[in-house]
Amino acid sequence: MKPVLVVKNLTKMYGPKKVVNSVTFTIFDGQIFGFVGPNGAGKSTTIRMITGLTPITSGSIRICGYNIERNFTKAISNIGAVVEMPQLYPYLSGLKNLKLFAAFYGKAAIKRIPEIVKLVGMENRIKDKVSTYSLGMKQRLGIAQALLNKPKLLILDEPTNGLDPNGIVEMRNVLRALASKEKIAIIISSHNLAELEHTCDVIGLINNGRIIEHRTMEQINKLIESKQRVQLFCNYPNYAAMLIKKKYGIGSKIIGNSILVPLKEANMASVISYLTYKKVKIYSIKKIQKTLEELYFELLNNSRPSSSIV
Ligand SMILES: Nc1ncnc2c1ncn2[C@@H]1O[C@H](COP(=O)(O)OP(=O)(O)O)[C@@H](O)[C@H]1O
Ligand SMILES: [Mg+2]
Repeated sequence: MKPVLVVKNLTKMYGPKKVVNSVTFTIFDGQIFGFVGPNGAGKSTTIRMITGLTPITSGSIRICGYNIERNFTKAISNIGAVVEMPQLYPYLSGLKNLKLFAAFYGKAAIKRIPEIVKLVGMENRIKDKVSTYSLGMKQRLGIAQALLNKPKLLILDEPTNGLDPNGIVEMRNVLRALASKEKIAIIISSHNLAELEHTCDVIGLINNGRIIEHRTMEQINKLIESKQRVQLFCNYPNYAAMLIKKKYGIGSKIIGNSILVPLKEANMASVISYLTYKKVKIYSIKKIQKTLEELYFELLNNSRPSSSIV
């Protein structure tokens, strides 16, 4: 895997306010990086620095090895971006819109149009006027536009904003195909972690300008699993808790006629048969799983309040 985007200690000050605070991450080819955080966290400002729309206060950005400040043109020539809503002519067809933009990049881009239309799954509607498109289709046409110059890095700032669940799935399929087939590195921002769950390989959580978590989606799923609890409703909760503590060394919380135990799937059968053997009657078992959204808020709340004013 080759690093496509390398962001190091990236910082942005607006007056005395540090809105992006020493942000560091790397995205490799074929990888989808989800940049997630609440409104005002600093996502768009980071993205605007990566796309060269706003200057860096300190730190560095390298795109395909080119430093964005020292080698601006070369660095920028490797990116395609959809920042905010894609700019489209509503009374022209999708195809005509693409042709207009492709003319800007030259013949090679014009030749690539059919292939790109296929990549974003717009073959059936590309000759229709943009004004008849759904928001999801406009977003996909925006992605098509961003792909015309064969970028190595695709940048999307909150592309799922306002999309219905169907639109989100279509967008996800397009992005996954671009990453796996074209080996494009993708950075996609959102204020909703759950929306990116099945889209991204890596998640960077940002809050108050700082990256507070940087994990693979696999690690995040493991983290959720490790937080799984089982609620056992039984006749002697105190006794059951004592038995589990003694035999398995696992502490439980007693809630009325039930106990709440952090049990892994693998231990479950053993614990239940042991309790039954010890004459504890189990009435029902409820698995209590943290949702991705709950984990997200837990991580945000646990993050140190950053010193955004310096
Ligand atoms: N041009 C600007 N001047 C001053 N403050 C700004 C400017 N742009 C953004 N900010 C502030 O920077 C912070 C981060 O904003 P932004 O990067 O847009 O967050 P996000 O995209 O995560 O919602 C916010 O507090 C916002 O008010
Ligand atoms: Mg934003």
